[in-house]
Amino acid sequence: MSFQKEINRRRTFGIVSHPDAGKTTLTEKLLLFGGAIRVAGAVKSNKIKKTATSDFMEIERQRGISVATSVMGFEYNGYKVNILDTPGHQDFQEDTFRTLTAVDSVIIVIDAAKGVEPQTEKLMNVCRMRKTPVIVFINKMDRPAQDSFSLLDEIEDQLKIRVRPLSWPINSGPDFKGVYSIYNSSLKLFDPSIQDIEKGIDFEDINNPELEKYIGDDAQTLRDELELVEGVYHEFNRGDYLKGNLAPVFFGSALYNFGVQELLHAFLEIAPAPQSSFAEEREVKPEEDKFSGFVFKIHANIDPNHRSRIAFVKICSGMFVRNNMYKHIRSGKTIRISSPTAFMASQKELVEEAFPGDIIGVPDNGSFVIGDTITEGEDINFKGLPSFSPELFRYVENADPMKSKQLNKGIDHLTDEGVAQLFTNQFNGRKIMGTVGQLQFEVIQFRLEHEYAAKCRFEPLQMYKACWIESDNAKMLIEFKKRKYQKMAKDKLGRDVFMADSQFILQMAQNEFKDIKFHFTSEF
Ligand code: G4P
Repeated sequence: MSFQKEINRRRTFGIVSHPDAGKTTLTEKLLLFGGAIRVAGAVKSNKIKKTATSDFMEIERQRGISVATSVMGFEYNGYKVNILDTPGHQDFQEDTFRTLTAVDSVIIVIDAAKGVEPQTEKLMNVCRMRKTPVIVFINKMDRPAQDSFSLLDEIEDQLKIRVRPLSWPINSGPDFKGVYSIYNSSLKLFDPSIQDIEKGIDFEDINNPELEKYIGDDAQTLRDELELVEGVYHEFNRGDYLKGNLAPVFFGSALYNFGVQELLHAFLEIAPAPQSSFAEEREVKPEEDKFSGFVFKIHANIDPNHRSRIAFVKICSGMFVRNNMYKHIRSGKTIRISSPTAFMASQKELVEEAFPGDIIGVPDNGSFVIGDTITEGEDINFKGLPSFSPELFRYVENADPMKSKQLNKGIDHLTDEGVAQLFTNQFNGRKIMGTVGQLQFEVIQFRLEHEYAAKCRFEPLQMYKACWIESDNAKMLIEFKKRKYQKMAKDKLGRDVFMADSQFILQMAQNEFKDIKFHFTSEF
């Protein structure tokens, strides 16, 4: 197969949702279609349960399992599908944001009864920032759902994206009869006792009286609603979807495998093949003949007996070939990747070659950090997703003075992996850890102890935000740093960060130092 064809047939995407909306269930059903798993329930264990706040062993066990399913590839109808898994637990949302840098499109799952939830909004913000095309799957139609039109309005309002339904439900909950696929003019009837590949009934003309035979009195309501849909929403335009301006919407029930195959088929047809990636220096097109890629995720210490890590590399351009010599841009070193792996149809396989859109797992002994670029020689650096200001902060102290070297190494590795962000206060030299969730502090403490034989203690720190600062007004910048010297820190890359105690203090600083820009993300 030609190189271009290999690129065109790839679909690399992520499924995201607010916890419990059905991401895991949908992922699992897609994998069943792809033959990547054989039984339902196989993916479940990937999820760190919401209650797991102190069960470290469980976290570890699940982390170990989740590496196997971090990236799932399978062949389906001539397409090579790569699903990138994202952690369900919201304390790991940074991990999710980073994974989104490696996808070409996203499916957002929404619970039909709950509508748009906070996590959905945050995830959509990231997609919007990157103009990632999104498809919405409204799930759990087998349960009493909100009115479909109100749901669509809510999505438009809260997710700030235009929508276009490509399927339409016939009732919900106990009265749920199925969906009419606007996308391919067919009717799919819901039967909870059959969870198999759905067969649609072709219904080119919805006014055909045959419709009554299948759904009785609901036929007229369906016709009326579809008429309204056609009146209210513009026709589906793939270009708008690909630009990230329009989200096609499908309805279904992942649990009953209903509407899933239809979603998959439409997805394969309309979702983008691998897209250009952006390096600081230039745009990199997938069809370029030289290989390039970047590390978007590092999974550490899968086997506690061997300190092993896997760096996940997204291939951006060219063909990756095992054992070829490549350049690791940050260190300038030439590297040979001799045992890259991929997860195909649940099997971990050695990869001989891989194409743009593919993800390979590279065994790593500490030489990679998130965001690293690898190329065939050209000095480019792929732009990563910025770090967001953490929401929780703690001073980190050494609890075992004999092990300070181990502690520093552990902190260094864990922050490379993106488990937390590290800041160093410039006034007192104290190390500050910033995270988005309480769970991460517990994971850090546990992992430092078990993987690095180091002990740490966290001390409370009341902090509102970490703000990366910059200004064209050098004098004002110096003055600001002088005035706020107790609150100035450096991030891991040595950039200036102002640690604002409260929203009020930040506002005061913004008012007083008008030429200084305060950023809540590390890239601006
Ligand atoms: P998540 O990954 O987004 O957090 O959600 P997950 O798929 O784990 O689904 C959360 C719960 O919702 C699960 O039930 C799951 O079975 C259920 N669910 C998912 N899709 C549907 C659907 O289409 N219809 C209905 N009725 N339920 C659905 P649970 O009881 O929390 O978990 P489990 O005990 O079944 O594993």
